[in-house]
Amino acid sequence: MSAWNATLYDTKHAYVFGYGREVVDTLDPKPGERILDLGCGTGHLTHEIASRGAKVVGMDNSAEMIAQARAKYPALDFRIADARVMQFDEPFDAVFSNAALHWIHEAGDVVRSIAAALEPGGRFVAEFGGEGNVAIIQAGIRKALDTLGIDSFGIFPIWYFPGIAEYSQLLDANGLEVLWAAMIPRDVQLDDPETGLRDWIRMFAGNVLQVIPEQNVKEFLAHAETYCRVQLYRDGAWHADYRRIRVIARKRG
Ligand code: BEZ
Repeated sequence: MSAWNATLYDTKHAYVFGYGREVVDTLDPKPGERILDLGCGTGHLTHEIASRGAKVVGMDNSAEMIAQARAKYPALDFRIADARVMQFDEPFDAVFSNAALHWIHEAGDVVRSIAAALEPGGRFVAEFGGEGNVAIIQAGIRKALDTLGIDSFGIFPIWYFPGIAEYSQLLDANGLEVLWAAMIPRDVQLDDPETGLRDWIRMFAGNVLQVIPEQNVKEFLAHAETYCRVQLYRDGAWHADYRRIRVIARKRG
């Protein structure tokens, strides 16, 4: 998730942080609390959390995203770091994360880092892709690769999309008691009625495009559209078949 196009993310995929505001409401930041925004992207939700009076650190491993976040919100504290090995001088009252944790397959390392970053009693509030997320898009990508005879070995799974039971067990095993968890189906209308699906694939499935010879990319995207169209093109717009896991957990002790 390092080669991000932060501008494309901000302009055509703004719904990501739009839905994230609901997750901030679930976090319910309080004035003076120390909060880590893990995978903060371009910093919009970091700003939202700060606007509620919390002392927030925004963290992301994409230098491009952090550069954009710093330019937009110069008064806020943004850091480039890897969630698997992050370390902080002072513990946090809460760790928050929206639309980020599905990028990191080493979920055990991330959960251990989150637990270590929290005060005893501190909370972890997150939403990211859950089991079955973008299943239709993934199937379309797979079929389009097959159609072009491109070897997809090593590409799948592209993301980490756990079920509630799997993720709850992981949290619990690392000292984070799950207070609440839900799987939320979410049909999201994509911004551009013509290019919505290909924009989404370019933005979020960049590692797939990397294995396709440049001269075949357009054809690949056209095949993906063909395979997805029946289920994902409705009322003159492309839709993404999101399924999100949202959790609230508390560090024991
Ligand atoms: C999501 O936000 O659920 C998501 C974003 C990009 C790729 C996969 C899932």
